[in-house]
Amino acid sequence: METVKVNASKKYDIIIGQKTVALLGKKIKALFGDRKVCIVTDDTVAELHADKAKEYLSEEKLLTEIFVFPHGEKSKSPEVLFELLEFLADKHFSRNDVIVALGGGVVGDLAGLAAAMYMRGMHLVQIPTTLLAMVDSSVGGKTAVNLKAGKNLAGVFNQPELVLCDLQMLLTLPSETFADGMAEIIKYGVIADKALFETVKNGDIARNLEKIIARCVSIKSEIVNEDEFDTGKRQLLNFGHTLAHSIEKMSNFEIPHGSAVAMGMLLISEIAWKNGLSKERCQDEIIDALLENNLPISCPFKNSSLYFATENDKKSSSGRISIIIPEEIGKCKILNLALAEFKELLSDEN
Ligand SMILES: NC(=O)c1ccc[n+]([C@@H]2O[C@H](COP(=O)([O-])OP(=O)(O)OC[C@H]3O[C@@H](n4cnc5c(N)ncnc54)[C@H](O)[C@@H]3O)[C@@H](O)[C@H]2O)c1
Repeated sequence: METVKVNASKKYDIIIGQKTVALLGKKIKALFGDRKVCIVTDDTVAELHADKAKEYLSEEKLLTEIFVFPHGEKSKSPEVLFELLEFLADKHFSRNDVIVALGGGVVGDLAGLAAAMYMRGMHLVQIPTTLLAMVDSSVGGKTAVNLKAGKNLAGVFNQPELVLCDLQMLLTLPSETFADGMAEIIKYGVIADKALFETVKNGDIARNLEKIIARCVSIKSEIVNEDEFDTGKRQLLNFGHTLAHSIEKMSNFEIPHGSAVAMGMLLISEIAWKNGLSKERCQDEIIDALLENNLPISCPFKNSSLYFATENDKKSSSGRISIIIPEEIGKCKILNLALAEFKELLSDEN
């Protein structure tokens, strides 16, 4: 079992290992006392894993309600968010009670936002059940729902107070959803850790999984400790994401986040190299890592059409946008461009 500590506006532990969900009731009692718990989850995860979570809560005699919504990115919406808030009110939750987000990044982002909003803030525990949520979305406090205009446009920063990564949860994950999580792991390798990148490029995953997850959340927590509110260094975590968000939106959310990140990382690396923005040619190694991990290496949309879909991106302001460019594997830089320059980089002739 590994524990990574986060020291942001809230201090909390990320506990990674086998059967860590068994700690749920005891940890909640120790952290918050005898509180009522609302498990928030989607229908797929509810069927597979909610009973276990409920069992560990009832062993500690903690009263539990469960809110279940349909799986998928389309549920990360203001409508489902407000259904959840109404549910909390109907069941008489108070601000001292606890939301347990049991699921992938969609559950974590939506439940995290509800926890921040309901009565101006309840306690929040994240139990990520996808690889992507374990290495990325459950940590660092970004919560949001999507608006019609784009991804994650309505949200707040709200750190959890505990994250339990239980590797047993991954046993039920479809292989393509596991692969989506590998895209974020490849991202951590490119932005911060060449050795991690090499491990993943060589497909050496299964026996190293606990260490890989711990390494990814350590990288993320170091960055978040330094720049919790995303005004500087944290933007490095967006490598591949500006284009990924456009790809997701243009596919009407049929292309999952991790696959879109894979396409986004490769596209921006190719563009950076062609335009003399990278010190080293990184795209070949990135292709090898993506292929080894069953991730896509081609994007169904034209570069120019992706530009128009970035116009509502949170990373753009006052006519400028920050993009993340690999200088070499293990090191990226943040480049702040005028939107016109970014548009030029994404022109189909480029
Ligand atoms: N907040 C952040 O910092 C952050 C970072 C990265 C991504 N995200 C967000 O995360 C979301 C993507 O997360 P995701 O890839 O986990 O998607 P997801 O939550 O939609 O989960 C993918 C699918 O896997 C199913 N599933 C989840 N756990 C399972 C399990 N253990 N066994 C079987 N099936 C399971 C879900 O029901 C869903 O159908 C996007 O909305 C993205 O914007 C947020």
